[in-house]
Amino acid sequence: MAITFFELLKTVIEKETDFISNQLEIPIDVVYELILDEAERNQVEWFSDRVPNLNYQDPACRLAYLYIVAAANASTFQHVLESNEDLHNYVLKIAKERHEVKICAFGAGPGTELMAMAKFFEQQKLGVSVSVDFQLLDKVQEWASSWYGIRDQVNESFKHLHGANRSTWSMIPSGNFLACDITELDRFSYLGDVWKQDIYVLNFLLSEIFNDDPGLRSFLSQVAKFAPTGARFVFIERRGYRWQQHIQNIAKESGLVLSKFIESPNGRLVGEDATKLGQIYDAIQERRKPRLTWNVVYSIGVKQ
Ligand SMILES: C[S@@+](CC[C@H](N)C(=O)[O-])C[C@H]1O[C@@H](n2cnc3c(N)ncnc32)[C@H](O)[C@@H]1O
Repeated sequence: MAITFFELLKTVIEKETDFISNQLEIPIDVVYELILDEAERNQVEWFSDRVPNLNYQDPACRLAYLYIVAAANASTFQHVLESNEDLHNYVLKIAKERHEVKICAFGAGPGTELMAMAKFFEQQKLGVSVSVDFQLLDKVQEWASSWYGIRDQVNESFKHLHGANRSTWSMIPSGNFLACDITELDRFSYLGDVWKQDIYVLNFLLSEIFNDDPGLRSFLSQVAKFAPTGARFVFIERRGYRWQQHIQNIAKESGLVLSKFIESPNGRLVGEDATKLGQIYDAIQERRKPRLTWNVVYSIGVKQ
């Protein structure tokens, strides 16, 4: 028994599709058609070579993301946690010493970073229970329902694996979702002092902001200013010189010391079986399959 992304997502997706079906009073098959339409639209927008115009406020669009992309994106962060020696050692040292890791995810969307942390700590078998406290920032408030849905499923999985006593779980998740456009510096002061995190993650955010946005650089400079010395900023993006340039500009303006860029061109979901998505997979997989591979570049910035 283990934590797997597709099993986690199955229940989250089923609960949300049932909710939409009941709320809009339409059959589940019609909800699946809406999801397929949004999936098509997302694909076109992501590769439009301009700021993508995405419908994340629409539940069908968020479900398309959960079905197609969420497992692959969780896997990219898990891959970086496992394969980057510096980050791996940093996270394990904190987890062993403090039994608590504080993490901030920018453009956190549905909670893929939480899925990655859950699978990571379950596999590490540290023999202690680690509290992982998330600060989530996303401009789309509607993602909160998916985030809390994923958190509930993570809790259910640990209960199933280790029993009801949380002190026996590999990880205890908690999180606070803040609706915030992180290209808007004036939002920074409204958030209060929420910047004492150990890790800051930007997983597939820069390609959605798309432009080398001065507002984003200013916002992240402020975050870096208040972050503890040694905090790690994890940038994961599609491969491409453009995104590397944006990451370098952010690091320069924020005073982060950036690692070299590491390319992972042929990433693949390991130990995952998409059929575990269940009903939705059976219904639409002939027309659209979940993503099982990824092609990323990443770099880690360190606060001095
Ligand atoms: C491609 S998704 C990535 C989600 C998650 N990190 C993952 O890897 O699966 C990009 C996310 O960034 C959010 N986003 C886009 N522009 C943003 C902005 N200016 N400020 C905050 N969040 C933003 C979107 O709402 C979306 O949830």
